[in-house]
Amino acid sequence: MKTLLHIDASARKTTNSVAAYNSISKSVAATFIRKWRAIDREDKIIHRDVGVNPPAFISQDWIAAVFTSDAAKTDDQKALLSLSDTLIREVEQADIIVMSSSMYNYGMPAALKAWFDQVIRLNKTFTFDLARGDFPLEPIMSGKILVLITSSGEFGFGIGGIREKMNHLGPHIRTLSHYLGVETVHEINAEYQEFNDERHIRSVANAHRAAEELALNLARSRELSDG
Ligand SMILES: Cc1cc2nc3c(=O)[nH]c(=O)nc-3n(C[C@H](O)[C@H](O)[C@H](O)COP(=O)(O)O)c2cc1C
Repeated sequence: MKTLLHIDASARKTTNSVAAYNSISKSVAATFIRKWRAIDREDKIIHRDVGVNPPAFISQDWIAAVFTSDAAKTDDQKALLSLSDTLIREVEQADIIVMSSSMYNYGMPAALKAWFDQVIRLNKTFTFDLARGDFPLEPIMSGKILVLITSSGEFGFGIGGIREKMNHLGPHIRTLSHYLGVETVHEINAEYQEFNDERHIRSVANAHRAAEELALNLARSRELSDG
């Protein structure tokens, strides 16, 4: 049995009465999860919609609590870190992280950044040692797979695309996910939402198809690795 951690980040839902208002990234992630479930109903899936229920922003007191040893932490500090502890436990359990995100202002939604700020934590998800020289941070976890599903209004954010240099969504998440123990990233992008034309229809259809294929392929390779 494997554990999937499914994180959604768009502020939009998928249950609006007007279908055009529905989140594309969440819909494509739902396609992935539906396909996965159809293949294997035994796996555990933890779902968090941080777009609808954003985690708290970290604060000065939160940072102070993180830098206080466990033995010296006050009850207030423990309470302040309890959401972070819960979110980190979910990441620890996950073999595969399925993350869907809109592109807002060429990067991730603030709610998703708030989630990363809560989970990337000293001595929980990474260690820091100046003996390592110029790269003192190392992840504690390893071997995780990230399925990253994004949706954008414009297009050409991929490698060699006309807006490659404006893409602070996928590259940022790839950098951060290293500190959660992610070693393999699969990325699916729906584009052109703001153009509302044939290219958009094709891009969304391709994203759903790619999500189904990826779920199938990962589930198959998972069966092989489970022996
Ligand atoms: C606040 C906001 C900021 C946005 N910024 C960008 C942007 O910088 N670049 C872009 O291509 N699209 C941008 N868009 C368009 C969204 O990326 C697009 O609507 C996408 O489909 C949203 O994801 P969702 O369908 O999962 O909600 C923005 C939309 C909103 C609401």
